[in-house]
Amino acid sequence: MTTSRGGEDPAGASAAPGGVAAEFIDALARLEADASAASGGVKDAASLEALRVEFVGARSGRLKAIQKLLGGLSAAERPAAGRRFNEVKDAVTAVMAAAQERVAAAAGGGIDATAGIDVTLPGEPLRLGHVHPITATIRRVQEIMARLGFESVDGPEVEDQWHNFEALAIPATHPARDPLDNFYLAVARGADPLLLRSQTSTVQIRVMEARRPPLRIVSLGRVYRPDTADATHYPMFHQVEGLLVEPGTTMAHLKTVLRQLASSFLGDDVRVRFRPSFFPFTEPSVEFDMEWGGRWIEMGGAGMVDPAVLEAVGYDPEAVSGFAFGLGVERIAARRYGVADIRDFYRNDVRFLRQF
Ligand code: FA5
Repeated sequence: MTTSRGGEDPAGASAAPGGVAAEFIDALARLEADASAASGGVKDAASLEALRVEFVGARSGRLKAIQKLLGGLSAAERPAAGRRFNEVKDAVTAVMAAAQERVAAAAGGGIDATAGIDVTLPGEPLRLGHVHPITATIRRVQEIMARLGFESVDGPEVEDQWHNFEALAIPATHPARDPLDNFYLAVARGADPLLLRSQTSTVQIRVMEARRPPLRIVSLGRVYRPDTADATHYPMFHQVEGLLVEPGTTMAHLKTVLRQLASSFLGDDVRVRFRPSFFPFTEPSVEFDMEWGGRWIEMGGAGMVDPAVLEAVGYDPEAVSGFAFGLGVERIAARRYGVADIRDFYRNDVRFLRQF
């Protein structure tokens, strides 16, 4: 601090020729010069506070001491002296403010945190992500099926011949086992090569092997087929597999469950139909179609679990019966979201995905 101290004269105003008025003006001039010089030495909050107390302190600051001299001036001298006092007061206040700004800037790493921020401007919007439409479809189907009493279960995507074919009554000679129609894995497994499962019907077998009836399960997951990708086919897609094994089960129960699934998912205006079909592991077998918005679309296959399958898992076909169905999730999602080409689900184009 380089201020000159007033000693016993708190205003720092030593006597000047010309009476009290001259002394007053002189003291103000020195105070202004001293405050300006002293502010150059302010480096931190503590020295800033010392400056404030010395010059503008309310009780014993130098400005206050000079103000007291005003009372000793004549009425004629007072207006001009008062104006000069206010000028100096403003100047010293400005010097203090500048010193305060320098201290704040130094504390903020040289950045004035208050400069250039308009708090009334709208903020940068946060872009929230959401689940993929296929994941949303899977969750919705699981939810609907849960309300019908079907428990969600998972199965492996790498499967053996037994679970993907044999136990489902698809013999070694069946064209569905052709290497051109499956993704067999290049791992040595002799006569029992592993493959990426081509259908979720594998999970029916795994569950029936592990549990006894009554059973109500649903399994949603990926399956793989070397199909050429087009608007309704993709080499990797998802299926929803349903299985119910309970005494007295009939095709009517199957149709009711599928109609409930369809109308819960798409609305009451959806229509469903069965067409006779063939699957080695169901008898009788049907194709399940849905009509919505004026078009019929094949959703999947279904039927009563074939007695040969019940036997393969150690159930007595005389004692229990059940139904099973397997639907394509991409086809359901395409109906639900009005998507014409299922390849769009996998292009990873955020402009497409943001719509859902
Ligand atoms: C089956 O996969 C049987 N496992 C279904 C089944 C289960 C029948 C239980 C009886 C009892 P399919 O090969 O038809 O059936 O396939 C079922 C559905 O999967 C098709 O209707 C279609 O919706 C869907 N799908 C088939 N291939 C593709 C593909 N490449 N891309 C997208 N979806 C497909």
